[in-house]
Amino acid sequence: MWIRTIFSQRLSMDREIQRHPDGAHVAVVGATGAVGREMLHCLEALKLPIRSLDVLASSRSAGHTLDTAWGPKTVQDAETFDFRGVDIALFSAGKAVSEHLAPRVLEAGCLMIDNTSAFRRAPKWPLVVPEINGDLIALRPGIIANPNCSTIQMVLALKALDDAAGIDDVRVVTFQSCSGAGQKGIDALLDETRQALEGNRPAASKVHARTMAFDVVPQIGALLDSGNTEEEEKMMFETRKILGREDLRVAATCVRVPVIRSHSEVVHVVTRRHITVEEAESALNDMAGLRVTDYRQKGAYPTAVQAEGLFDTLVGRVRVDPVASNGLIFWIVSDNLLKGAALNAVQIACAAWNHARNGKTHE
Ligand SMILES: NC(=O)c1ccc[n+]([C@@H]2O[C@H](COP(=O)([O-])OP(=O)(O)OC[C@H]3O[C@@H](n4cnc5c(N)ncnc54)[C@H](OP(=O)(O)O)[C@@H]3O)[C@@H](O)[C@H]2O)c1
Repeated sequence: MWIRTIFSQRLSMDREIQRHPDGAHVAVVGATGAVGREMLHCLEALKLPIRSLDVLASSRSAGHTLDTAWGPKTVQDAETFDFRGVDIALFSAGKAVSEHLAPRVLEAGCLMIDNTSAFRRAPKWPLVVPEINGDLIALRPGIIANPNCSTIQMVLALKALDDAAGIDDVRVVTFQSCSGAGQKGIDALLDETRQALEGNRPAASKVHARTMAFDVVPQIGALLDSGNTEEEEKMMFETRKILGREDLRVAATCVRVPVIRSHSEVVHVVTRRHITVEEAESALNDMAGLRVTDYRQKGAYPTAVQAEGLFDTLVGRVRVDPVASNGLIFWIVSDNLLKGAALNAVQIACAAWNHARNGKTHE
């Protein structure tokens, strides 16, 4: 995690967080994990006014201290925590924990922003990317589901192209980093790589579908009877739900690659109306949260390492698909722990808080 360490130090160097007596009471569940730690950084960076902050994890970490912008915080056991008085609970502790604790969180009157797959398919709860369907955000007892990491970055681009020319067909192949499986996913990659470099064959992975050192693996989540994996089914379903396009045809192939952080994707889109590459680049670049890095600058396409620590999702290599009428191909890269998880969740929290306080969304 050498690159990320630099970024974390930069964020925490000039910490002087103002206390907000009228601010939100926020709980971060899974605060010791890869996503939870980024949630704390994003709360700091996006300046959500905070009155009180609780950091929660399992009984394994309870009692440990986390250094936060709001001072050192003792990790509390989520199982025994009383959610009464909490305005916003940010969850990233796994699906089972979210399912188990949701009734208590809702009974306590909190807004639960959930990073897991527990509630994404539930028709009752919105699945939100603020730049696309932020109008569904409100500060009231209930659940807002945060989409899957690989979906969030892609739908930003699809929304831009749908508004510009209408889209019908989407085919995506992903190249997903090992941090998509959390801190243990990163540790597994590093351990296996070390073993391989020492001339040893790494033992079967307990985290990823296969060992990840010097290999690419076309399986993320269980293989289903449909022939798709769980991750692929998530991308297809969630894209339609977020865009409100039940009719959209989406095909996904999700691949784990030996990259620490940031997911890369190749997306093929068929538009209803013909648009030029220049028009597409312009629409993508104008979309909030998206940046075309090689817009009129050949060769400046983005990579996973380049996207690490960035809030923007990066697009490049927009070109004509030679085998599809009105077809476009592009490359899109985003930090899966930020826009793919923590940043999107904290943007929702900010929008909910600002909406309730000022009647407007967060910038
Ligand atoms: N990584 C990504 O790119 C990504 C993107 C989108 C969504 N997500 C989702 O976010 C969730 C967390 O992912 P992660 O990558 O941060 O995983 P992680 O690094 O393994 O962290 C897991 C966190 O959950 C906590 N936890 C585990 N069991 C718990 C329990 N029984 N009660 C309370 N807390 C518990 C852990 O606390 P301890 O320290 O006590 O073990 C830790 O804080 C997952 O559901 C994942 O699918 C991840």
